Amino acid sequence: MRGKFITFEGCEGSGKSTQLRLLGEYLTQRGVDFLMTREPGGSAIAEDIRKIILNPAYTEMCPECEALLYASARIQHLKEIVEPALAAGRLVVCDRYVDSSFAYQGEARGLGADFIAEINGYALEKYPPDLTVFLDISPKAAFERKHGADQNDRIEALGFEFHEKVYKGYKKLLPKFPRIVAVDCGGTKFETAEIIKNLLIDKAIIK
Ligand SMILES: Nc1ncnc2c1ncn2[C@@H]1O[C@H](COP(=O)(O)OP(=O)(O)O)[C@@H](O)[C@H]1O
Ligand SMILES: [Mg+2]
Repeated sequence: MRGKFITFEGCEGSGKSTQLRLLGEYLTQRGVDFLMTREPGGSAIAEDIRKIILNPAYTEMCPECEALLYASARIQHLKEIVEPALAAGRLVVCDRYVDSSFAYQGEARGLGADFIAEINGYALEKYPPDLTVFLDISPKAAFERKHGADQNDRIEALGFEFHEKVYKGYKKLLPKFPRIVAVDCGGTKFETAEIIKNLLIDKAIIK
C-alpha cells in the first residue's frame, strides 16, 4: 500500500522543528516506517537551488523568480525523495511544502494565490498531502514565547510586518484546503504533541 504524505506548516518559531522531533520520537517508538524530510530535502539539486534563492548577493531577484525556484526545487524533491518513499509504503513527514509558497510568496510577497497555484500545479495535483498540520500561533505570540521581554529590541518593524502577512496568508488557506488542520499551539510543546498525535490517529494516518 502507498504511504501517506503529511506536511507541517506555520510561521517562523511556531514550533515545527520541535513538533517534528517529538513526532519522530513517537513514530520510532511505535515502530512506524517513516521518512522525515524538509524542503529542499536531501536532494543535492534542490539544495543548490535553495542556495541560489538565499544568496544575499542576488538582491535583484524578483519574487516571481524566487517562487519559480522554490517550485522547481519542490518538484525535484517530490520525484527524487518523496515518491520513492511513498511507493515503498512509508509515511512521509515534510517540514514545509506548497502552503509555504502560498503564504510567503503568494501573500507576503504579493504574487497572489493564482500565480502560486499555477506554478505549483504539479505538486498540488500529483502530491496533495493527506494531512497538513498548521501550527497556529501568530508571529508575535511565537516571538514573545521565545524571547519574552526582549521583543522590542529584536524585532525589526518591516520584518515583523512581513511575518504578519505570512500568518494572514496561512489563515486564508484554511477554508480553501480542508486537508489543512489548524492546531492551537499555545500550550506546552508536549500538549501540542499530544494534539498532533491524536489528530494523526483520527485521520487514520497512524493506528
Ligand atoms: N509549545 C511551546 N512552548 C514554548 N516554547 C516552544 C514551544 N514549541 C516550541 N518552542 C520554542 O520556540 C522556539 C521555536 O521553535 P521551532 O521548533 O524551532 O520553530 P520553527 O521550526 O517552526 O521555526 C524554540 O526555541 C522552541 O524551543
Ligand atoms: Mg524549523
